[in-house]
Amino acid sequence: MRIDILTLFPQMFDGLLSCSIVGRAMEHGLVDVKLHDIRTYTHDKHNIVDDYPYGGGAGMVLKTEPIFEAVESVSGELGLPSVPTVLLSPQGRLFNQELARELASCQNLVLICGHYEGVDERVAEHLVSDEISIGDYLLSGGEVAAMVVVDCVIRLLPGVLGSEASLAEESHIGGLLEYPQYTRPAVYRGWTVPEILLSGDHGEIARWRRQQSLLRTAKRRPDLMEKAVLSPEDKRLLSEAFEIKS
Ligand code: ADE
Repeated sequence: MRIDILTLFPQMFDGLLSCSIVGRAMEHGLVDVKLHDIRTYTHDKHNIVDDYPYGGGAGMVLKTEPIFEAVESVSGELGLPSVPTVLLSPQGRLFNQELARELASCQNLVLICGHYEGVDERVAEHLVSDEISIGDYLLSGGEVAAMVVVDCVIRLLPGVLGSEASLAEESHIGGLLEYPQYTRPAVYRGWTVPEILLSGDHGEIARWRRQQSLLRTAKRRPDLMEKAVLSPEDKRLLSEAFEIKS
């Protein structure tokens, strides 16, 4: 997969792209992330990327021309008539694991990081295929949001995570939160690891984990629970868990 990021602050991505899972995926050639400074697509002496909003109001608005030219330059370089192009903005549809999977299935992806008071609406209307928000809060720019998307997408690419099993059991896969995890020591400051995890009984451990997953989701994220498809066994585990708790 190749991801092209259009930003006014390419240096913000240095950490993400050089460390940990994303850094390794880049190193192994499993993904190629290219950064483009929007400013380099301006033609005036001062490389102006923003301007005052028509109609007045506070702040500046990112101009259309450099963004259109940057996206067209990427699709030209790829030899494609168009590339899936996402504008990161607080007005977009809410990012989640399902959307991450959708984006991870693309061969190419362009991410546009907005800034200032916003981006000229003609970018959203006539250039991008999607607008994505990472949550109902205001960031100072789209860069951090783009990093969230890039991280989530890259870890889903084939070969990026060592064990495919870890993908299958994570939070939000299957619509539930993950069960609690523990490692050594078995007792720390008097706090013990649940007995069942030390038992070696894999059937019972799997049952306990499923129950914890259900309980945690029901308590912390009732919104997810409403959407989850539960088997009769899940329903039994959940009512048993609530009986134990009460
Ligand atoms: N830019 C500013 N805030 C944002 C958000 N919540 N999601 C995506 N892009 C943004």
